[in-house]
Formats: sequence, C-alpha cells, structure tokens
Amino acid sequence: MNKAKKIAVLVSGGGTNLQSLIDCQKNGMFGESAITLVIASKPGVYALERAKNAGIASAVLCRKDYADIAAYSAALVKALKDAEIDLVVLAGFLTIIDEQVYEAYPNAIINIHPALIPSFCGKGYYGLHVHEAALQKGVKVSGATVHFVTPECDAGPIILQKAVEVKQDDTPEALQQRIMEEVEWKILPEAVKLFCEDKLTVKDNKVYIGE
Ligand code: GAR
Repeated sequence: MNKAKKIAVLVSGGGTNLQSLIDCQKNGMFGESAITLVIASKPGVYALERAKNAGIASAVLCRKDYADIAAYSAALVKALKDAEIDLVVLAGFLTIIDEQVYEAYPNAIINIHPALIPSFCGKGYYGLHVHEAALQKGVKVSGATVHFVTPECDAGPIILQKAVEVKQDDTPEALQQRIMEEVEWKILPEAVKLFCEDKLTVKDNKVYIGE
C-alpha cells in the first residue's frame, strides 16, 4: 500500500486546472491522497475562491513582497515543508522560482504546459501567448504536456501528452479552451493519480509509467 500524499497546487489565475483536480479528488481518483494547500502568487485570483469553496487551506505568496527570487523561493519551500507537502503541482503558476525549490522536491514538482513540448515552450511561452504562436506557425495539431519540473524551463521529463487538432478558423482563445477541456483537465489529474500511486519513475530524463 503506498503512502497517502499531501498535494500543494500553485496557481496564478482562474484555476480551472485546480478545479479539475478538486473534482477528481472528490470522485476518489487520488485515493487517500489529497490537496491540502493552494498557494497563489497574487491576491484576489479566482483560484483562491475555488480553494475556499472546496475547504482547502490557501496562502498568498507575492513575488513583490520579497527582495529577490531566492528569498521568494526560500519562503515557498518553507510554506511547502511546514505543510508537509509531498507533491507540488504548478497549475498555471507564472512566478519564476529557483533551484532551492527543485532541490527540495526532486521529481516531485509537476507542471502543465499548454502545448506539445518541445514545441512552443520555454521563456515567454505561457497562457494565450502559446496558442498565438501555434496559430502563427500554422501547426495542424497542438495539445498539452505534463512534465516534472527541473531548473531548465519546460525541459523536465515528460509524464503525459495529448494532442488536439487545430481548426482553420481557430482563434487563440478557442484553441486554448479546447486544449483545456479536451486535454489539460484530463492529463493533469491523471499524472497526479500516477504520482500518488508511486507509478512514475524517472531515468535518463525520461518518465517510465508502472503498471
Ligand atoms: C493553463 O492553460 C496552463 O496550461 C497554462 O496557464 C493556464 C492556467 O489556467 N500554463 C502555462 O502557460 C505555463 N507555462 P487555469 O488557471 O485556468 O488553470
């Protein structure tokens, strides 16, 4: 029997991915594991409302309240360790953090990125910008990727990916919505489930999924 995990979800915006995790948890998908903390990078974001409605503890950690990225990252690690968090999920978390966090949680931080990595990822590719770039390039498929987070932006071992077709008349907003509904809200909870069941192994920068 694997140990129940305490999960923290880090957010910066509307929190639809957080909501999908909350809904999956309510349906028993994570077994005894549970989201016990939501951390937002700014006050007033709707994701905090979602945490409150689900009865999940939350905190706000604003980058501008700290001298630099190192001080911010130290505060984040402290908050996570104080809450005895096992798994950190970046669900639309847009604040830069440094190696202190990665070192505190090796292969235990996962991120959802709204494109098929290694396309349309790295510095500057977040939110709607990703979909604008995909449409600009004229790709015929796009999708989303869940990966472990390492110091190199969007370059960590890939856990799950799923594609959707790009339509000729797609706008960035329409593509974003379709990728969220058809991919993100499914593969992020699936990756969390696999982690909670101890089924993810990383070897040579690749993820192997156990039976
Ligand atoms: C999601 O589309 C997520 O993939 C993206 O931000 C959105 C957050 O939406 N993340 C990134 O672009 C990270 N590079 P949400 O707050 O409704 O979950």
